[in-house]
Amino acid sequence: MENKIELKGLRQSFNVRNKEKRCTEEFVALEDFSLSVDDGEFITIVGPSGCGKSTLLDIIAGLTKPKSGEIFIDGRKVSGPALDRGFIMQGYALFPWRTVERNVEYGLEVKHVPKRERRDICRYFIELVGLTGFEERYPNELSGGMRQRVAIARSLAYNPQVLLMDEPFAAVDAQTREILQDELLRIWEATKKTVIFITHSIEEAVLLADRVVVMTASPGTVKRILDIDLPRPRTASDMRISADFNWISNRIWELLQSAAAVKTSKPSGQDLASEISVSARL
Ligand SMILES: Nc1ncnc2c1ncn2[C@@H]1O[C@H](COP(=O)(O)OP(=O)(O)OP(=O)(O)O)[C@@H](O)[C@H]1O
Ligand SMILES: [Mg+2]
Repeated sequence: MENKIELKGLRQSFNVRNKEKRCTEEFVALEDFSLSVDDGEFITIVGPSGCGKSTLLDIIAGLTKPKSGEIFIDGRKVSGPALDRGFIMQGYALFPWRTVERNVEYGLEVKHVPKRERRDICRYFIELVGLTGFEERYPNELSGGMRQRVAIARSLAYNPQVLLMDEPFAAVDAQTREILQDELLRIWEATKKTVIFITHSIEEAVLLADRVVVMTASPGTVKRILDIDLPRPRTASDMRISADFNWISNRIWELLQSAAAVKTSKPSGQDLASEISVSARL
């Protein structure tokens, strides 16, 4: 199968001030990050705070350029933002002056889709995310979870092949989060998008993913990639009582603890051995 997304040796750094030396110096946020993602695959990324996850997603979205390395989508090199990628950020980022329907319509307007068709597509996606009846509401008249659903509908409506999601459910309460996770899985299964999803929640990472990428602390790079062979369709409530789900979540928890604690050490032989047994156990 051809790779949908190919990330090759991505490196990102920023110039930061050093007060003592009274100069600026290079801070490396992302180092030699490589990953191949299959068409329709659901990838989740976890890593310590500040390890470069958002930096990585910004680069894949084409919002910033890496210092070195390359990104290919469908074999074409990415050089800037485009409608083949939908980007969903943590802070909802809806247009406050537009109603739900007009927010969802946005990408379709940019694509010059005729008005009638726009309406039909919007209605479809608003229904898909469970917001029928709220078309004329403004973002400030919605709950946080509802706003997040509008953001998802808006990203899906213009039919991007790739969805990039940066902690999209971090700001909603636990129950709403579960509902949104289940909805996202349902939508993903219906639309076959390729998804890269960043989260701080290990359980969320395991619930959603085909593979979980665990990153090292800054500078961020790939520490481990774990195959999640749990059967689908999955729901949050089913997973909570699954022994295999809890076992792999614990394994990722251990990996993250060592990623945060030992910044520069190379993976030990023992780490590798238990890595191999993850797939064997599932
Ligand atoms: N424009 C910038 N200038 C200087 N440093 C930056 C800039 N953007 C990000 N960084 C630094 O790069 C590192 C990675 O930041 P990034 O936002 O990617 O982390 P993250 O993994 O998304 O963290 P979190 O989990 O807390 O969201 C951080 O140390 C941050 O301070
Ligand atoms: Mg971030």
